[in-house]
Amino acid sequence: MIKVAPSILSADYVNLQSSIEKVDQAGAEVLHIDVMDGLFVPAISYGPNWVKAIRPITNMELDCHLMIENPERYVDTFAKNGADLIGVHVEATPHIHRALQMIKHQGVKAEVVINPGTPVSAIEPVLYMVDQVLVMTVNPGFGGQQFIPETINKIKSLNRLRNEHDNYDFTIEIDGGVNDQTVVKPYEAGADVAVAGSYVFAAPNPADRVQALKHATDF
Ligand code: DX5
Ligand code: ZN
Repeated sequence: MIKVAPSILSADYVNLQSSIEKVDQAGAEVLHIDVMDGLFVPAISYGPNWVKAIRPITNMELDCHLMIENPERYVDTFAKNGADLIGVHVEATPHIHRALQMIKHQGVKAEVVINPGTPVSAIEPVLYMVDQVLVMTVNPGFGGQQFIPETINKIKSLNRLRNEHDNYDFTIEIDGGVNDQTVVKPYEAGADVAVAGSYVFAAPNPADRVQALKHATDF
């Protein structure tokens, strides 16, 4: 079964605590927090203070997906505010190695993220040092977009690479357009964690959707 990471981007911000409790009780292992700066992606979402506010209300792993330019500027703040994992885009900084080093230095899990248009070869030099690779299955910036099937080949390549190298020790996450149909092929290709925003939180009962993603990958 795949691990499920509901993205609060599509949650009810006014009743955030109750939205988070619903997916927590439904068995979601990870809470995905999408940080957007209006530069790397057009939208602006929320920042490190949200992580600080959410930390005391759940034991789920807090997975902070930084869609911001030069993310190394904010790594320490997100870590101090309670992030368990910090993800940085290879496209967002000329210093991806340094950004990942800084995350590791803070004692939290380090994740490198690739957009749909970025090849796996762009992150090969840092694969030895990451705890997770996030393969974007939509172009980042908005919830509710359609899953891009061509990204599945990158999951296969990453799965092959980690099997071939003893010093690689990372999980694979997918993010964007995930539902109980689109989750199946990436899971077969090697994805370990699925982010889902609108599929979970735009539903009348988010807990059912968390369970549906697990059932769809229960084989
Ligand atoms: C997109 C974000 C996603 C977003 C996914 O830029 O990184 O995490 O919340 O939303 P859905 O699941 O609706 O595609
Ligand atoms: Zn995300």
